[in-house]
Amino acid sequence: MAENQNPPSFTLTNNQTGEAVELPVLDGTTGPSVIDIRALYSGTKHFSFDPGYGMTGACKSSLTYIDGELGQLMHGGYSIDELAEKSDFLEVAFLLLNGELPTKTEKEEFDHAITHHTMVHEQLNTFFRGFRRDAHPMAILCGVTGALSAFYHDSTDINDPFQRMVASRRLIAKMPTLAAMAFKYSLGQPFNYPRNNLSYSENFLQMCFGVPTEDYVVDPVLADAMDKILILHADHEQNASTSTVRLAGSSGANPFACIAAGIAALWGPAHGGANEAVLNMLSEIGDRSRIPEYIKKPRDKDDPFRLFGFGHRVYKNFDPRAKVMRQSCHDVLNKLGIKDEPLLDLAMELEDIALKDEYFIEKKLYPNVDFYSGIILKAMGFPTSMFTVLFAVARTVGWVSQWKEMIEDPQQRIGRPRQLYTGPAERKYVDISAR
Ligand code: SDX
Repeated sequence: MAENQNPPSFTLTNNQTGEAVELPVLDGTTGPSVIDIRALYSGTKHFSFDPGYGMTGACKSSLTYIDGELGQLMHGGYSIDELAEKSDFLEVAFLLLNGELPTKTEKEEFDHAITHHTMVHEQLNTFFRGFRRDAHPMAILCGVTGALSAFYHDSTDINDPFQRMVASRRLIAKMPTLAAMAFKYSLGQPFNYPRNNLSYSENFLQMCFGVPTEDYVVDPVLADAMDKILILHADHEQNASTSTVRLAGSSGANPFACIAAGIAALWGPAHGGANEAVLNMLSEIGDRSRIPEYIKKPRDKDDPFRLFGFGHRVYKNFDPRAKVMRQSCHDVLNKLGIKDEPLLDLAMELEDIALKDEYFIEKKLYPNVDFYSGIILKAMGFPTSMFTVLFAVARTVGWVSQWKEMIEDPQQRIGRPRQLYTGPAERKYVDISAR
């Protein structure tokens, strides 16, 4: 193909010296092109400045694409709506790991492999005993996941493709088991072993809600809802926790340590911790008569209050996952025969009022994935402290896939942002006697 004689670029000119540097433009498959600023320092002796990286492309990725203006999300080119309706979580995991939907044979092999990696080393049971019973399940999950590298030394060599594959499958397979163990430990109930005759989501539910005193019968409604929730939370471009996993992985840290770092980042209430915060906020609001008071609070710049479950760094339209989640919420509550869930009524009223409020319209604040998920999870019997744990179970697939993509990128280097220094200029040390 003839080389483009006039490739797109931007010329940056210093308006005092007239010096200019040409910065090439890189095009992707869809969405905004990027300005390649790797020559910026050599050409200008200046760094770029973008606190929070809101305008910075940190990598090339083919896994997920979000259109924040249109409110679209796709994995490997497939829209989240289609995947949530027609796929299942392990098929989405295969798609994220391999870039294509599996054939029937590939799907059977992958499901079998994940199912047969769900058990954890028996010694991990003892590891849990070191936590207080009232420890937050996210604290336990973060600690235990980091400890996996002490149990699975044979899959920590990141330069060995086979070990990368084994570690990826171990993490995807064992995260539900660890999450269920954290839940059981907080209840003071015995751990349940995974069952190979159940699907991924069915297995997770039985490990969470099964008890030794009776057979656990999986409710297909709950299993389907759980699988859908996992799909909706699987991956989401370079969000805070995924970027944490990539940065940790860029130093060559083992995959278990990288995923533990992702869990830690996800826990924040501005990120994955929002689903727990939404339920706490709805409980605090308590009654629809108090909604106007809470809708007004964000206007007050001195009030740090934010409406949890609303707003997003990328979506300036409806989060497509929230739409699927809202419908699933109604389906699950109806099928469970829960007629009047006051928190759902309150959430629907809050959404309705917020979407008509001029501040929320001006700031383009819409419900995000966390707004409805907590209501479904509460209806399924999970305590609020487990909501972010479930988010971590799902996002492990995205974290592992993004980590794999980074490690396999031949241009991959250690991540090392720069800064604008605003501290004191160089000065001499003063002995304490003279201070
Ligand atoms: C997730 O990145 C991802 O992809 C994350 C995620 C994923 O799948 O990985 O989608 C998962 O983290 C969803 C978000 C869950 N968090 C919450 O629901 C917490 C509440 N939301 C906010 O904290 C906030 O919206 C953030 C953190 C999500 C985004 O913060 P930004 O980037 O600062 O939001 P912004 O720049 O778009 O804000 C614009 C304005 C600001 O006011 P000004 O400074 O312009 O005066 O809107 C205000 C914000 O203060 N604002 C809100 C608000 N969110 C933003 N005001 C009230 N309530 C809110 N929820």
